[in-house]
Amino acid sequence: MTTSKSLSALAALVLLGAAGAAHAEADWKRGRVYYRMVCTACHVEKGGSIAPSSKTIAEWTAYLAADKHAKGKDTVKFYVGKKYRDSVKASNKAAEKYADVAEQDLHDDLKAFLSKGAKDGESPASCN
Ligand code: HEC
Repeated sequence: MTTSKSLSALAALVLLGAAGAAHAEADWKRGRVYYRMVCTACHVEKGGSIAPSSKTIAEWTAYLAADKHAKGKDTVKFYVGKKYRDSVKASNKAAEKYADVAEQDLHDDLKAFLSKGAKDGESPASCN
């Protein structure tokens, strides 16, 4: 490979890396707001809140990957989805604020928050 070719290959790699990082960077703060104001709002009504610190990072990762919510009755994806946000946004400020966020982005944010707040996470989080 000539020097100029390897340089442009290097530049391409750097660009790819930057794009990948920008995409991968989840907003755990937005995930926290969503978890507290949308997920917890319902849990509190339906039998009790679920603290992020009640599971380990590995448990949350497996839980989100399995995507079986409420013992398999529905999915976590449904509750981060636009359809659900639309259905509650009249009475839920977080659902209204994030009404147009892509489902995958919000899911990544939620995952970032749950990992951070997990039992063995950076800052274990209760519900409030
Ligand atoms: C409309 C109400 C509602 C919303 C919104 C909701 N949940 Fe739940 N969730 C429940 C109920 C009800 C249970 C308990 C099911 C049971 O005990 O049989 C539950 C249980 C859970 C559990 C315990 C394990 C399980 O699946 O049974 C986790 C974890 C959980 N929810 C996470 C979430 C997350 C994350 C969100 C937001 C993206 C969310 N929930 C949104 C109603 C809700």
